[in-house]
Amino acid sequence: MVAEVLAALQPKATGRYVDGTVGGGGHAAAVLAASSPTGWLFGCDRDGVAAEAAKARLAEFSGRFEIRQGNYADLAQWLEPNSCDGVLLDLGVSSPQLDSPERGFSFQQDGPLDMRMNKQQELTAAKLVNLTASDELANIFWEYGDEEDSRRIARAIEMDRRTQPFERTRQLAELIERISPRAGRKSHPATKVFQALRMAVNDEIGSLKRGLEAALQILKPGGRLAVITFHSVEDRVVKDFGRRLSRDYEITGEVDVPELRIPRPPVVQLVSRKAIRPGEAEIAENPRSRSAQVRVMEKN
Ligand SMILES: C[S@@+](CC[C@H](N)C(=O)[O-])C[C@H]1O[C@@H](n2cnc3c(N)ncnc32)[C@H](O)[C@@H]1O
Repeated sequence: MVAEVLAALQPKATGRYVDGTVGGGGHAAAVLAASSPTGWLFGCDRDGVAAEAAKARLAEFSGRFEIRQGNYADLAQWLEPNSCDGVLLDLGVSSPQLDSPERGFSFQQDGPLDMRMNKQQELTAAKLVNLTASDELANIFWEYGDEEDSRRIARAIEMDRRTQPFERTRQLAELIERISPRAGRKSHPATKVFQALRMAVNDEIGSLKRGLEAALQILKPGGRLAVITFHSVEDRVVKDFGRRLSRDYEITGEVDVPELRIPRPPVVQLVSRKAIRPGEAEIAENPRSRSAQVRVMEKN
């Protein structure tokens, strides 16, 4: 989605940009190239391996960027309010994470049931799967994965782990293949459970909510936020955030009662009402991008 990100952020040589999910540095390199010769970029990633990879990838832009390992939810602690022209969040896992079995994100290849983006974190997917009550596990699978068989899978996990705790990714994937088989499905039966576990282990929705607020604080008026999402659970959070802040009123309680609305100028403008999807050429080149979409908003 490089072309879409550049169209959204419109990098310029006087600009200061932030890539909160710098990964291997692909988008960051494109933003730095487009803002030559003096545009500046701050990048962070929770994954120390990714942060190092980004530094190496961006070496040709030496002096024009700073990279640190950290959660984008903390952006407002590192950068001044109203100081940036553009912020990018490209959510989810990276190809190097998915393709390294030892990171434990993949149900195709066997590895430890880990899924931590930040390897210094205590909570792993194995701890979550082995120690969480079945009802709570089912809620995780349903809320973060829209998994329809959430209760059945959670109960089966609870039964199996009494005799053999879950340690490996294939061990969990095989249980799901057994009780919720592939017949007629486009995706592997473990896709949603693995997505949900990854999101819970890394508190991805909590980070996203805090990160959106932080991005808004550090953006200058007129600065833009572009967020790439890969599934409906995270897209919903971004869409609701944009909708709420683009209204000209605040609501007072849990529900919107028109008589109780408090008028205020909109905090952001939605640059496009609908999410932008990748073109066919990009999907052909990178099949993982097929479910990606970008939402763009501008701070008032
Ligand atoms: C889809 S990849 C980004 C790829 C990157 N845009 C590129 O061009 O190479 C997502 C990255 O976000 C990181 N990540 C996920 N949640 C994060 C968070 N809360 N804070 C910082 N990085 C995060 C992951 O570790 C992963 O490296």
